[in-house]
Amino acid sequence: MKIDILTLFPEMCEAVLSESIIGRARSAGHVEINCHNIRDYSTDKHNHVDDMPYGGGTGMIMQAQPIYDAFMDLTKNGEEPYHLIYMTPQGKTLTQERVKELAKLDKIAILCGHYEGVDERVIDELEPEEISIGDYVLTGGELPALALTDSICRMLPGVLRNDEAFSKESHFDGLLEYPQYTRPPVWKGREVPEVLLSGHHENISKWQYEQSLERTKNKRQDMYDKFVQN
Ligand code: ADE
Repeated sequence: MKIDILTLFPEMCEAVLSESIIGRARSAGHVEINCHNIRDYSTDKHNHVDDMPYGGGTGMIMQAQPIYDAFMDLTKNGEEPYHLIYMTPQGKTLTQERVKELAKLDKIAILCGHYEGVDERVIDELEPEEISIGDYVLTGGELPALALTDSICRMLPGVLRNDEAFSKESHFDGLLEYPQYTRPPVWKGREVPEVLLSGHHENISKWQYEQSLERTKNKRQDMYDKFVQN
C-alpha cells in the first residue's frame, strides 16, 4: 500500500512516521509513505499558500491552487488514481471498521488542512472523503493524518510482529481488549489472575473473552449494546 500525505509540515509527519512500528514497516517495504510539502506547489513569488477569507473574519485560508496541484502531481505519470481523504473536524468520525476498509486500498492520499481551513472550491473539485478523529478541534490536520496513517498501517500484512495479537484483535471484534499482565507475578501486593498462570489455554481464552465483555460493558456501554445486538 502507498500513502501520500499532503501537508505544510512534512518534517513533522516524517519524524513521527520514521519511528517504531511504522518506521520499521516502511523500511521492510510493507508500506510506502511519502510526505509532500504543499508549499512546493505555490506559484506565488513569496511561496504563500494562504490568504485572507472573503467576507472577512479572522485567520487565513489555504488556497485551492497549491492543494490541487500537489494532489494532481501524485498521478502525473498516468498512475492509478488515489483515494483522497481530507482530515477535518467536519468529517465522519473515524472508526476501526472504516480503518479496516481503508487498509484494503492500494493508494491513499491524505490532505492536512491548516490555519482556519481550506478554500471550499478545492473540496468541491476533488470531492475527498472527509474524516474527523473526534469532536474536538486541533490546530491542523497533521496529528489526525498521523493517527489515521498509524491505524491503517498496523492492519497491513507483516506490520505487526505478533500475528497472534492481530488475530485476537479481530476475534474480539467490536469489544475492548481484556486486561494484560507481565512479570512479576505479584506487584505491590497485586497478583496476576491465577488462570493466566495455569497454562490451560481453553480456560485462559474463556477468561479473556469474559473480561473483554465485562470491560466493554463497564467502560463503553455504547459498544457493548452494539455488540450484543449483532
Ligand atoms: N483538524 C482539526 N481538528 C481535526 C479533527 N478533530 N479531526 C480531523 N481533522 C482535524
